[in-house]
Amino acid sequence: MNFYVMTLFPEMIEQGMHTSITGRAIAKGLLSLKTVNIRDYSVTGNGRIDDYPYGGGAGMVMQAEPIWRAYEDVKKQIQADPAVSESPRVIYLTPQGRVFHQEMAQELAAEENLIFLCGHYEGVDERVIEAIVTDQVSIGDYVLTGGELPAMVMMDAISRMVPGVLSNAESGQSESFSDHLLEYPQYSRPEVWRDRPVPPVLLSGHHGNVDRWRREQSLLRTMQNRPELLKDAKLGKKDIAFLESLSD
Ligand code: ADE
Repeated sequence: MNFYVMTLFPEMIEQGMHTSITGRAIAKGLLSLKTVNIRDYSVTGNGRIDDYPYGGGAGMVMQAEPIWRAYEDVKKQIQADPAVSESPRVIYLTPQGRVFHQEMAQELAAEENLIFLCGHYEGVDERVIEAIVTDQVSIGDYVLTGGELPAMVMMDAISRMVPGVLSNAESGQSESFSDHLLEYPQYSRPEVWRDRPVPPVLLSGHHGNVDRWRREQSLLRTMQNRPELLKDAKLGKKDIAFLESLSD
């Protein structure tokens, strides 16, 4: 998986991505990261890449040409590999996009190359979005100062889906959203922490009871925090009986 990020703040992306699990995966060669500073493609010669909006209004707009040139450069690098025939997907981070979720992360993890375009100021000239962007994605209903954090959020979630990035110990099958349910709570030593004991069933050594308890905790959390997820969850008879018992 090769990530290319077009941004005005490459150091922010480099710092974030070279940390923790994604940093380890880059060091191992499971992921690659290339940041491209859009400012290097300024057409005015003085590093300027924004201008006033036509029609007036507050703020500045990132111009089309520097982004286009940055994109052409990235595309050339990707297509220098004779095995690559298709044009890479270009993801523009914007609150106006489709909202990111786990299945999207899974689907994007199957791509060989992904290009992210991070906007700033009041926006990006619409014509370059029309010309190069294949996917417009939001990470949630709030407005950030730029696309860098959203791009990192997406790359982090996608990276976890790339084979080998997580160790076996990290990759647990039962994680939140894997089955449209939230994950159950976890406990470690000591058995009693500041008067709070670990739920006794977890110390019982009875795997069947532990599994049932965890399943019920997942159902309970999902019901309490994200009830809308339940309609897509695969529920057995016992699950349904448990959920019904909650509303009694
Ligand atoms: N840029 C600014 N806010 C954003 C958001 N919520 N998601 C994606 N990109 C953004």
